[in-house]
Amino acid sequence: MNLNYEEKGTGKALLLIHGFPFDQTMWDEQRELLSDTFRVVTPDLRGMGKSPSVESQKVTTMADLADDLVELLDRLGIETCTYGGLSMGGYVGWEFWRRHPDRLDKLILCDTNAAADTPENAAQRCATADRVEQEKSVAFLADGMASKLMAPQTLAEKPLVMEKYRRMVEKNNPPGVAAVARGMAQRHDFRPNLREIDCPVLVLTGESDVLSPPEAMRALADALPHGHFVEIPHAGHLAPMENPQAVADAIRHFMKIHP
Ligand code: MLT
Repeated sequence: MNLNYEEKGTGKALLLIHGFPFDQTMWDEQRELLSDTFRVVTPDLRGMGKSPSVESQKVTTMADLADDLVELLDRLGIETCTYGGLSMGGYVGWEFWRRHPDRLDKLILCDTNAAADTPENAAQRCATADRVEQEKSVAFLADGMASKLMAPQTLAEKPLVMEKYRRMVEKNNPPGVAAVARGMAQRHDFRPNLREIDCPVLVLTGESDVLSPPEAMRALADALPHGHFVEIPHAGHLAPMENPQAVADAIRHFMKIHP
């Protein structure tokens, strides 16, 4: 896969992976803020943003996405990285850890979880994928999801964040988004593996995230041998966009205590 990506800075590689149905621009501010110290790489996952999809591929698994990222690391000459992912980017992170542990030194998991979908959620996702294909558009997801994804304060006071969110979703590529939605419906339950993850892990979430609430994310950090939990103020599920400085500060601090 010839993934589209942006990168800035030199030093230790920090790979930041977007959620669903977004693209790499959701990490724009962390790339700017952290590139004074790190080589920050932000790819678009297969079939999303400006990355191509595989023609006629109806399901893109989290494992496919993790393998694509290793191909990208090879292309960039990066041996090991710190992997950070938001929500679906976290689901890909579990697979990255399982399939490519030698390419990973630390994990950053933002607003995500380790469980698989319930059968009801999986069915709902497949229905969403079918609708995206029928409408040949992702736009309907933008309105449906906004109030679940951002804190009330963001919705009320940060029109630019809302605008960017809408742009990312509406411009996304329908076949790629549908295939990834079906892949999320098939993802593994990594809760039984949490004790085996022996690298440092930063677990962060927005204080108003209703999809990955702070109590659940704190429990996730506690279940990891080397988990650190940070709650991001004034943010919901899209914490890196809603409170970019606090997310960058948390990442910087974590990287400093685990050089
Ligand atoms: C995301 O932000 O990536 C999504 O909320 C993931 C999901 O739908 O489970």
